[in-house]
Amino acid sequence: MAIKLKAQDIKLIEEVKAKGNIPNHIAIIMDGNGRWAKKRSLPRIAGHHKGVDSVRHAVETCIGLGVKILTLYAFSTENWKRPKEEVSTLMRLMVKSLKSETDELNENKIKLMSIGDTHSLPEIVRQELKSAIEKTSHNDKMILNLALSYSGRWELVEAVKTISKEVLSGKLNPDQICEKTISDNLTTAGLPEPDLMIRTSGEFRISNFLLWQLAYSEIFISSEVST
Ligand code: FPP
Repeated sequence: MAIKLKAQDIKLIEEVKAKGNIPNHIAIIMDGNGRWAKKRSLPRIAGHHKGVDSVRHAVETCIGLGVKILTLYAFSTENWKRPKEEVSTLMRLMVKSLKSETDELNENKIKLMSIGDTHSLPEIVRQELKSAIEKTSHNDKMILNLALSYSGRWELVEAVKTISKEVLSGKLNPDQICEKTISDNLTTAGLPEPDLMIRTSGEFRISNFLLWQLAYSEIFISSEVST
């Protein structure tokens, strides 16, 4: 993930920085890979490869801007319903990216985190993810938080289960349940909420992403499919 931003990107970053008010936490729904490929008569997976380039570009831009947390919706629980071949190719792409980018993450002092039902990921992905998270755990410049097998409803159901168990065991009085109780039981516990949520490729939906955490976030939807 060597910084490979073009001169025009660097200029834009400087202009944005000069205006100030840089978001602390940006969350991105990375959409449009399939359409990007279709537009070029390429297989969908070519779009996902291009998506990895976009991840790099987003990370590099956030480093340049001084953003502290970047959360990427890389694989939703709904994505499991995609054709088996597409899912397995995406999993392979994740393993490959995690393997090849860990050193660069360290060079750029980026700490990797993940949110989601990671137990449902293939063993090889879990291993690579665990290893990359451990190897980058000491970094403090920026957090790259990957939402993998993630959905906002799944996370809320899990939080309700945990809180219910605490109530049943007598550890928690239901009258004491407040917003912080919920936030503390989400996979993003300890992280500030996103200031900005970006969705690429023109769809005006939040698609089960960070349902609780986006309550006060600004939303930006980028135009249909970028070049
Ligand atoms: C949405 O585009 C994108 C995905 C479902 C997968 C994104 C994941 C990657 C690019 C791999 C990321 C890897 C790492 C290590 C973060 P789409 O297929 O829904 O596009 P469409 O809406 O045009 O069909």
